[in-house]
Parts: sequence; structure tokens; C-alpha cells
Amino acid sequence: MAYLQYIDQRLCFGPSPTPLQKFTASYQGPVYIYDLASIRHRYGQMARALPGVDIYYAMKANSHPEVLRALAQAGAGVDVVSGGEIKRALENGFSPDKIVYSGVGKTRQEIQAALDLRIAQLNVESLPELQRISEIAREMACKAPVALRLNPDVDIQTHPYIATGLKDNKFGMELALLPELVELLQKNQNFLELKGLSLHLGSQMMEFAGFAEALKKLVPVFQDLQKTFPGLDVFDIGGGLGVFYETQDLKKEEELLQAYAAQALEILKPLQARLQTEPGRWLVAHSGVLLSQVQYIKTTTHKTFVIIDSGMNHLLRPSLYGAFHSVWALKENAEKMKVDVVGPICESGDFFAKEREISRVHADDFIVIADVGAYGYSMANRYNLQDLPQEIVI
Ligand code: LLP
Repeated sequence: MAYLQYIDQRLCFGPSPTPLQKFTASYQGPVYIYDLASIRHRYGQMARALPGVDIYYAMKANSHPEVLRALAQAGAGVDVVSGGEIKRALENGFSPDKIVYSGVGKTRQEIQAALDLRIAQLNVESLPELQRISEIAREMACKAPVALRLNPDVDIQTHPYIATGLKDNKFGMELALLPELVELLQKNQNFLELKGLSLHLGSQMMEFAGFAEALKKLVPVFQDLQKTFPGLDVFDIGGGLGVFYETQDLKKEEELLQAYAAQALEILKPLQARLQTEPGRWLVAHSGVLLSQVQYIKTTTHKTFVIIDSGMNHLLRPSLYGAFHSVWALKENAEKMKVDVVGPICESGDFFAKEREISRVHADDFIVIADVGAYGYSMANRYNLQDLPQEIVI
């Protein structure tokens, strides 16, 4: 199964290949197109690879209502990082007991709302946050279900902007803080219930030495804490499993998933715990494309620019991380051109691809950017007062 392929020179998308040409008739500007069947397929693959592990979809990757509903129906819970995401989750099929709440900056109002709703778990990222949660729970005369997000200080070899498990990062709490955390939890045992430990080491993880090292560090910590807190029964391994943007090799991704699952299940086998994971990218990245129209072909003595009507305002990943996304002409052409594919934004960092060979296109033709189902629309903005892109679901 390939997500993007040319059939009779027409670019088709999804497991039951849909020619993307049909979306150009009503084209009113750049549009993200999502394929729900492939998201359901990926969810099934992950659920089978991680039997008994509860999957909480990290909605920051893609919070389109229909994507959320499809995953909720498939049985997923959801990992959120703001009051806005909690609201979106509730509106789209997730009950409060399927919501896990992460993030370093939870405000008083957000915590209050989360406790009021009785969501499943707040993943706590600092001592002052735990203190704040305890005070709010006391005021509300309730007991807050918390998991401690620990930062094991390991390197997962990813882009520095999306690594989160190093001591340099703002995420999670260092293990040296445990005595203070335990003291606070014990002092406030009427208002805080320690349910779990969690970790999330970063995103786009393609090898698992750091992941394994982190799990091994936390197994004895979990077992030790269980002696003091018998209610502790959740171990959350975070998200972060990567995809092959350059090759789109789905078979290799299945192998990657198997290797990831084998490591986690093997290392955590000794634990008396319910396991949780928070994947985002792996579930949705390949299931979205961005359709955009060529405005100009600009040729200089130095190179050729294909200027399209979408830019870093709609897909930030190439500009922000130097991320690779493949670029396809809607119509395959035997004739090729080597180009920079760029947007309309007034920044030289506004590019999708550099020195890339694509099928020859002309002004008014359409271009498709691949694998933008994760962290595409969800990071879009209105810089230069450009409109946001549209979204369509197949
Ligand atoms: N859990 C937590 C606490 C997270 O912060 C994240 C992602 C995830 C789970 C899901 O990670 P995933 O499975 O999607 O790797 N904008 C960046 C990615 C930022 C990820 C932020 N946190 C990108 O476009 O590559």
C-alpha cells in the first residue's frame, strides 16, 4: 500500500487511490486533504503491535474533528496540552476518562477545568505545577489524578527542537527531584493521587537506544514508588515514533514499530502496571497531503523557483526544522525540472524544497506536498495576513 502514487500519470492518494485532480475543480486556495481510512489502518497496526497498551493519540499532531472522531471510534484515548484541546476532544467523541493532559504551562483555569471534568490523568512537569494542582484540588475538595513526567536525560538523536528528554529541555522532572515530589504527594495525599509515571523523550525517533536506556532507568523508580503509593499503576511511555519522510517506506515503518514495541514490552515486562503510549506523528503523518497551485515559474541565471500559493504559513516544518517533504506534480511528466519550491511569504526561509527534481510544471498547475498529516495544519498561522489553508477529509 502506497499513500501517494501515479496511476496513468495522475497523482492518486490513499489506500483506495483517489485521483487528487478532482479537488482542483473547486479549488479556492491551498487545501490539506486527509484520508481517514489510512489513519484507521495505522491505528490498527499500532494497537496490534502493542497489545494491552492503551493508546492516547497526541492531538497536537492533527486536531481535525473527523480525524479525532475516527480515532475515538477506533478505541483511542487522547493526549492534550491545553484547555482548547480538552474542549476539542470532548466535542469529538472522547469522554473525560479517555483524556490525559500533558504540558509544562498549565494555567490555574486549565487545571480547574480539567479537575472539574474529572479527566483521567494530569501529567505533571514541575514541582510548582504539582503544588498548584494540589492547592486547586484542595479548594475544589477533590483528589487530582496525577502522573509524574520524568526527564531521564537521554538522547534520542532527533532534531534539537523536538528532543524533550535531555536535562537541557524544559520538559519533565529530573530524577533527583523525586524525594521532594514524594514529600509533597504524601503531605497532600487527600488532594493528590499518584496514578502514574510518564516520559516523552521527543519526536521523530528512528532508533531506540536512548528510549531503552530511559525505560531501564525508570523501571526501578516505578517499583520503588509503588511501595509508597500502592495506587500507582500506570506507566506512560510517551509518543515519538518516527516515520520515513524521504522514502515513505511503509514496510520499514512497520518494522520500526515492531522493534519499538518489542523494546518497550520487554523492558517493562517486570512491572505490575497498565502501559500507555501517546503517539501523534506515526498515526497521521502519511495520511495528509497539501494541494497548492503554482503561481509563477521564476528563472534566474542561478536557479529556477516554483512559486506556489502556500508557504511556511501553512507548513512550517521545512523552515523550522529543515524537514524533508516530498513534492509531487499533480500530473506526471516525463520531462523533469530541478527547482526550489517556495511560497509567497516574505522570508528566505519560506521554502518547501531546494534543488529538488520534479515533473515539469507550469503556472496554474498544481503541486502536492506529501506526508503533512502530522504537524501541518495544526502549526499553520496567518503570517503576512495570508488566509489559513482549507481542510478536506476523504
Ligand atoms: N506526548 C507528548 C507529551 C508530546 O509532547 C508529543 C509531541 C507527543 C506525545 C507526540 O509525539 P509524536 O508521536 O507525534 O512524535 N512539531 C514537531 C513535532 C513536535 C512534537 C511535540 N510533542 C514536528 O513537526 O516535527
